[in-house]
Amino acid sequence: MTAVFPLHRTTRPTPAPDRDAILADPGFGTHFTDHMASATWTPDAGWHGHRIGPVTPYTLHPGAAVLHYAQEVFEGLKAYRHADGSVWLFRPEINAARFARSARRLSLPEVSEAEFLASVEELVRADEAWVPAFGGEQSLYLRPFMFASETFLGVRPAHRVEYSVIACPAGMYFSSGSGVTLWISTTFTRAAAGGTGEAKCGGNYAASLAAQTEAHEHGCDQVLYVDGVEHEWLEESGTMNVCLVTSDGELVTPPLGTILEGVTRDSVLALAGEHGLTAVQRPVSVTELRERCADGSVTEVFAAGTAAVITPIVGFKGADLDVRVGGGAPGKTTLALREHILDLQYGRVADTRGWLR
Ligand code: COI
Repeated sequence: MTAVFPLHRTTRPTPAPDRDAILADPGFGTHFTDHMASATWTPDAGWHGHRIGPVTPYTLHPGAAVLHYAQEVFEGLKAYRHADGSVWLFRPEINAARFARSARRLSLPEVSEAEFLASVEELVRADEAWVPAFGGEQSLYLRPFMFASETFLGVRPAHRVEYSVIACPAGMYFSSGSGVTLWISTTFTRAAAGGTGEAKCGGNYAASLAAQTEAHEHGCDQVLYVDGVEHEWLEESGTMNVCLVTSDGELVTPPLGTILEGVTRDSVLALAGEHGLTAVQRPVSVTELRERCADGSVTEVFAAGTAAVITPIVGFKGADLDVRVGGGAPGKTTLALREHILDLQYGRVADTRGWLR
């Protein structure tokens, strides 16, 4: 059978000793593998030119639409090496579906689930040597993305679009395993009803940078967004969803609508029962967070995301707010859920749900 993305192997692969040096300490997002998947879309030909080839810079006219109007969407998922050396993706079908939803929101053409999965799988096969060894918390981070490459300054959906997948070996996204502190911004809002909050588009992340700077200026690791009307209802953290654990056995997370529908968020909700928790999706106010962290009925808070996995949140700050969660250290349930997700991803427990591919 012909591959959907035929492989044109690079003639100049990274020498093995250099690759091993990178794999020894990959960091996040700075070192890239040897190959990329790509395809181009035009209205007449649809998707064409599918290939896995050497990582190659794009040549773009300065008038390319993406450079002006940010017509772009992306995804993030990981490949994990198991103890027997095999390599697995975690729920990539969900990324494929979200990528299609994001594309629709940004008036970009959809990549079918079959094409999305083939592009990711065939890239992982080509760059399998780049998947870190079993035993640490490392993985191969995969970044599918699509952008308007047409040279045109009028504002309308582009007539030429590039799809690519690149990959980088990844260690921990947050170096602080002991938990992070979030800044509740009332200056900056991430999304409003009808906006692009549910889409994974570059513009959302560009707009988050000022809020992130504000968070750092207040000694926090990341921002926690609240709604733009009342500045009261928790949304998400920009690169992660947020979840609360309560003393009466609930795992609470804000509902979908203006936040990203995270794969880790969904997985945590599905696993909650096995940890004696009832999963609840409902609005959570800053007032509730403050009061219940203070009286101890919110015992733990954590963030969930593909890059960040599950990251304990040990405190919140805001304009007139300084809240410590639990004892200011990662909670037991947070760590157990984190271990559970990692056990599934690294094949350390049986995959009874068929989440691995
Ligand atoms: C991910 O978790 O995959 C993300 O997209 C977060 C990121 C922007 C690093």
